[in-house]
Amino acid sequence: MHCVRKVTDDLYWIGGNDHRLALFENVHPIPEGVSYNSYLLLDEKTVLFDTADWDVCRQFLENLEYVLDGRPLDYIIVNHMEPDHAASLAEVTLRHPEAVLISTAKAFTMMGQFGFAMENKRETVKEKDTRCFGKHTVTFIMAPMVHWPEVMFTFDTTDGILFSADAFGTFGALDGRLFNDEVDFERDWLVPARRYYTNIVGKYGRQVQAVLKKAGGLDIRMICPLHGPVWRTDLGWFIDKHVKWATCTPEEKGVVIVYGSMYGNTEAAAQKLAALLCEKGMTNVRVYDVSETHVSYLIAEAFRFSHLVLASVTYNLGIFPPMKDFIHDMQALEFKGRTVGLVENGTWAIKSGALMKEELEKMKDMTILDGPVTVTSSVNDASAAGLEALAESLIASMGD
Ligand code: FEO
Repeated sequence: MHCVRKVTDDLYWIGGNDHRLALFENVHPIPEGVSYNSYLLLDEKTVLFDTADWDVCRQFLENLEYVLDGRPLDYIIVNHMEPDHAASLAEVTLRHPEAVLISTAKAFTMMGQFGFAMENKRETVKEKDTRCFGKHTVTFIMAPMVHWPEVMFTFDTTDGILFSADAFGTFGALDGRLFNDEVDFERDWLVPARRYYTNIVGKYGRQVQAVLKKAGGLDIRMICPLHGPVWRTDLGWFIDKHVKWATCTPEEKGVVIVYGSMYGNTEAAAQKLAALLCEKGMTNVRVYDVSETHVSYLIAEAFRFSHLVLASVTYNLGIFPPMKDFIHDMQALEFKGRTVGLVENGTWAIKSGALMKEELEKMKDMTILDGPVTVTSSVNDASAAGLEALAESLIASMGD
């Protein structure tokens, strides 16, 4: 049975929702599910904007045929050919050999690499090319490395609709709701949206900024991303979030404490520090166990807050392995510009503080506060005093 939503009088959402996939990209947990958005325009010509992941292919095909209602499919615009959107392309083109594919030269090359080899006619487009489908004219905006090299956006100049590929997307299945004003986005969707952006696109902040600048000149009235809600109100609010994420600018003054603890003593130091911060008036504090919390959540929280504390036991004369993975992910995603406090622990040959500092100094614009606070096996009066000094130093570094 078809399951579609009307976006405008002549544009339909015909994608699918996936609650069965545990790990997005086989890396990131998605307990909230995910949607694969595909859109079909019914103009003098029929135009499909991207397809969908193989997991929802059956639903997607039913939706497509229902909305087409016997009409031929004239065009398929492929804004992004990563398999979570293009895996169903071969199936669609087998059923619709009449459809002309429109995409970038790079996308056609990559479709060949993936074996999405279809016989359909192809039209390669580049920046500012246009196509008219009847009432609707679209223009193409190249968006390389947002977050793959072949990506483009398509802008419907008639209705002011930006088909933005993965940009402005989020984890989370739609489950019937389609528009941002049908959900409490700030309450229920901002956390998955931040985690989606920072982990999937976070490395490409410069490229995102470049395309945001180009899009800034357009009269955008609606954003149709490939994952998550369609934006038709408060566009500026969500765009501003993306500007912050793309520039790795903190959204909130606050402290994220991430600890790696073997027997609970480094955890106790982290808890003591959190309590001291709150006692001194800084209550916007979050504490995470690096062994228990998937790194994608830690990355998102690091992007969100202004200050970060890493507390790690020394393990095999090195950084606790899950903490090392977290630091490595921060480096890979070009995380930058934070004030960081360090806490190290060990029973002999305590090394983790100096090693974490060395790794953090490889990132841009990081301020490492004096320290580290050294805990010898468990917190004692001396290390408690060190934690108190670190709490004061964190608060002092926040300014007014
Ligand atoms: Fe949602 Fe980059 O694919």
